[in-house]
Amino acid sequence: MSGEEETVIEESMEVGLYSKRGITLVRGRGSRVWDDSGREYIDCVGGHGVASVGHCNPRVAAAITRQVNTLITCPESFSNDVRTEYLARLRNVTPDGVDRFFLCNSGTEAVEAAIKFARLATGRSRIVATRRGFHGRTMGALAATWGKGHRRGVEHLVGPCDHVSFEDPRELEEALDESTAALIIEVVQGEGGVHPAEREFVAEAARLCRERGVLFIADEIQTGFGRTGSWFAVDHYDVVPDMVCMAKAMAGGVPMGAVGLGDRVENLPAMSHGSTFGGNPLACAAALATLEEMQEGDLPGRSRVAGHRFMEGLGDLDSPLVREVRGMGLMVGVQMRVRVTPILRRLQERGVLALPAGATVLRFLPPLVIEDGDLDLVVDALGEALGEMVQT
Ligand SMILES: Cc1ncc(COP(=O)(O)O)c(C=O)c1O
Repeated sequence: MSGEEETVIEESMEVGLYSKRGITLVRGRGSRVWDDSGREYIDCVGGHGVASVGHCNPRVAAAITRQVNTLITCPESFSNDVRTEYLARLRNVTPDGVDRFFLCNSGTEAVEAAIKFARLATGRSRIVATRRGFHGRTMGALAATWGKGHRRGVEHLVGPCDHVSFEDPRELEEALDESTAALIIEVVQGEGGVHPAEREFVAEAARLCRERGVLFIADEIQTGFGRTGSWFAVDHYDVVPDMVCMAKAMAGGVPMGAVGLGDRVENLPAMSHGSTFGGNPLACAAALATLEEMQEGDLPGRSRVAGHRFMEGLGDLDSPLVREVRGMGLMVGVQMRVRVTPILRRLQERGVLALPAGATVLRFLPPLVIEDGDLDLVVDALGEALGEMVQT
């Protein structure tokens, strides 16, 4: 059966939410994946920023295998050795003061929990988010997500939530008031087009939050765990958030999410939140191995250096179709003057997988272990694809 035939069959059994790419991936290793015909791809989708330690990282695979034969499930009403060890290690890399954690299973769940904690801790209900921000697709997180496309048909969300400029702190000044429980931002917006925030904006946001009793939630679901060249993107900005939402790269590909809490988040009533699968030993074992791998390989540092070199390479492409290259670490966006779908297709034909961030931004979220040689091949493939498009 060909990849396209498989796509048709799979689609017939799903609910039609995803636009399929016409290939069937069956295997991965490091920064490469293979389809069912044996074709190899350099993977700059990386499971949407999940595969930071590389596909099927041997240390993560071994930890999962060990844990599968030890204990897979253990509710949070019981302590667990692996969970305890993981939490102790996690607090070494999270921003200063963020040292208590709620464990869950995905990014949107982390955002839901953070919003709920903000309401419970402050007794206020309003959330402020930014335009172009993306925070997930469940009803509370969706209220904070900008973009009508995500919200069409489900407008009666758990609110209230207002959206302000990501650039102009004066809008924040007006929006953060005594009814506001939290401000939630991605300091480097991902889905919204790979936009790093200005330092002044983030500093002012943090200052206003402190001044007005508003909790500062950093959504680090895409940016966390080394993606931008530091453990968390807020580390670049010298601000300490009250809550950090994490997921994606956290457990080497095993579903996991978390909210890290600082000392301003208190008074959470017992039993006010929870998760059946949250903190399960299997995910914790994978996360522990992932963290060790990131620390030993200094993957945040690797991301910083490789990302800088990659962006230089992309910047040298000199194509009339490219408007701007931007990003941080190995979270890289190329703002095009045209829609990206045909470019993604041409890249795929050349053995490179990338993803969009909106209609006109090409996004690269490769494993942080990717080698420079592979990133050079990606630059070459993009150069060829754009050259072909200019000619046609
Ligand atoms: C910044 C950000 N927040 C939240 C989410 C939602 O995460 P999940 O898809 O795991 O629910 C994403 C997913 O792309 C994200 O990038």
